[in-house]
Amino acid sequence: MEDNVEQDLSVISRAETILSNLGLTWDDLKNKNVLDMASGSSTLAHAASMLGMDTKIFSVDIDRQKEWVGLPKDVKSKIVQGDAEKLPFADESFDIVLDHGGMGILGFNEAARTLRLGGQFRMFPIGGQILEYWNISFFLTEIEGKESAVVQQLIQKFDQQISDANGWIPSEYITLREKALTALSSDQKIEVIEMLIDRYAQMTEMPLFLYELKDPMAREPNGVMIYKKSY
Ligand SMILES: C[S@@+](CC[C@H](N)C(=O)[O-])C[C@H]1O[C@@H](n2cnc3c(N)ncnc32)[C@H](O)[C@@H]1O
Repeated sequence: MEDNVEQDLSVISRAETILSNLGLTWDDLKNKNVLDMASGSSTLAHAASMLGMDTKIFSVDIDRQKEWVGLPKDVKSKIVQGDAEKLPFADESFDIVLDHGGMGILGFNEAARTLRLGGQFRMFPIGGQILEYWNISFFLTEIEGKESAVVQQLIQKFDQQISDANGWIPSEYITLREKALTALSSDQKIEVIEMLIDRYAQMTEMPLFLYELKDPMAREPNGVMIYKKSY
């Protein structure tokens, strides 16, 4: 019995660390349709269910997680085992898409597609994503407000610079960065609305991005997208 209580507390405490890393509290998820991208063991959904939170958290992970087996039915029914680059959800399905140390910039396109206008994408890149993250943040000022075609030209220029620097950034990161910058170009509707600098900066000395789909009158994904960097 005591063991169970301890396990429950540990799930809740891990979930609260994830939320705090993403600059959220449980209140922010209230009555929301949430996608936990690359969810791992689905800690967030599990804790929300234990706490009886009024939120719908869907979890997607590419690998079947051993912890999924023992989860309550209401949590299990919202778990998808699959690639978060090809989500089985309709456009504009979610109020909030979260990525806590999972996909990094590979999640941008599907987050943008599945978020409703005005929805938020919160990403906490860790581990292998740090380098790609740095690349993106470094180039954001350059692509701000530019159309996709112009962004493509800039990407070629950046890639030439990287190649001139003896390819010190691995080629797979170049591909990843290209995808992300294109996703953030002005003809899509995603913008950086805030950077949660403090917490992420403490750990990595780098800022965190927060994205929001903007213009509620516009249709995504093909209209004009504005993004801005707020630091
Ligand atoms: C470091 S874990 C983070 C798990 C969880 N978000 C957390 O913070 O506890 C990274 C997870 O990303 C998942 N992942 C990696 N690539 C993925 C993809 N293309 N689609 C879905 N999940 C993916 C892995 O299977 C792993 O569970």
